[in-house]
Amino acid sequence: MRFPVSSAKCRHPANREIVTFFSATDFCLMQRALTLAARGLFSTSPNPRVGCVLAQGDEMVGEGWHIRAGEAHAEVHALAAAGARARGATAYVTLEPCSHHGRTPPCAEALIAAGVGRVVVAMRDPNPLVAGRGMAMLRAAGIPTEEGLLAEEARELNIGFIARMTRGIPWLRLKIAASLDGRTALKNGQSQWITGAAARQDGHRFRARACALLTGIGTVRADNPQLNVRGVYAESAESETARQPLKIILDSRLELSPEARLFADGASALVVSALDDKTRAQPLLDKGAEWLCLPEASNAAGQGERIDLKRLMQELGRRGLNEVHGEAGATLNGAFIAAGLADELLVYLAPCLLGASARPLAALPELENLTERWSFGLQSCACIGQDVRMLCRRLD
Ligand SMILES: NC(=O)c1ccc[n+]([C@@H]2O[C@H](COP(=O)([O-])OP(=O)(O)OC[C@H]3O[C@@H](n4cnc5c(N)ncnc54)[C@H](OP(=O)(O)O)[C@@H]3O)[C@@H](O)[C@H]2O)c1
Ligand SMILES: [Zn+2]
Repeated sequence: MRFPVSSAKCRHPANREIVTFFSATDFCLMQRALTLAARGLFSTSPNPRVGCVLAQGDEMVGEGWHIRAGEAHAEVHALAAAGARARGATAYVTLEPCSHHGRTPPCAEALIAAGVGRVVVAMRDPNPLVAGRGMAMLRAAGIPTEEGLLAEEARELNIGFIARMTRGIPWLRLKIAASLDGRTALKNGQSQWITGAAARQDGHRFRARACALLTGIGTVRADNPQLNVRGVYAESAESETARQPLKIILDSRLELSPEARLFADGASALVVSALDDKTRAQPLLDKGAEWLCLPEASNAAGQGERIDLKRLMQELGRRGLNEVHGEAGATLNGAFIAAGLADELLVYLAPCLLGASARPLAALPELENLTERWSFGLQSCACIGQDVRMLCRRLD
């Protein structure tokens, strides 16, 4: 049976929107491809997470997913698994097959060479410079192509990659543990722990999918965090421990101690300052950290006092970071939100109250009118142990 689905639209080569009809089998097999793609959640960056299924009718003959940058793409794994049975098969791929010679040869060419009979993709390559070329190569070889099947799910999986490709800056998710009255620390700075163990473990899964973990000097001073991923294992075949994201510390005046716990595991760290002082940076460099000076526009004294957050995000995009996970205090949370740079708030709300003297969730300028408020859309809501997890997305 074939039935129309409103979300399943594809773009005609002439750029006309046309509705494509997908079968229940198509849905099941693309869903399988998405499940495979998600196995790369903790390992593929800076590349996207991609899955591929090859099927003869409703019989799967090969499947694969991209595990790590520099290694084979999903289509290559699926084609190898299918062997001769790839001929005439339908390929379900969660992202348009690549058309360029990168570290691996183009997958569109490999699909053509294997003689597949049809290619269905969930979404196009978001890079405007390459989007559509893979599909065009397939069509030029006489292979029917369709796109848009489970596109929303495919986009969610690669939200950071898409952000970097389309706007040049990573997707910024701010994780915040708060009380019911929206407080994130006591007046004296104590904040460990507001939420329960299950919520904290859940937070580590979000850390693991990010390319970088970002915090501010205020949090380092108060909590001395390790700023790493703990207790999360990659779901790839090797079941190895998750890779450690880059640690980014925003430290305007280079006050970070080289004895801070975040240096203890030897993972890569990037210290960002506003002050340009090599002598003060040297002990951090000696710890193996990288140092970047990005002051905001100059003040009267000739140097910005704080870090230019926009330039920082542009620099992180340039370095190939897809998702950045912030875990900072109210100062930086507020600064990122006010600058329009926070894409998502990952808030864990604990059923407790900390009172009006406790620190807020985000330090934001006072508003005169409710219409000026910072609004977010509720993306999802779930109970995690005794806490509630709310994923809120900026409304553009
Ligand atoms: N509940 C939670 O989820 C959670 C998470 C993390 C932290 N916390 C708590 O939050 C508290 C620390 O919060 P905090 O607000 O003091 O520290 P923070 O937000 O972690 O760091 C703020 C610092 O970042 C630096 N910075 C550099 N560029 C900046 C810019 N453009 N705009 C704003 N700041 C910039 C500033 O350093 P300079 O002042 O040197 O310029 C600023 O003081 C602690 O009590 C901690 O326990 C709670
Ligand atoms: Zn490829």
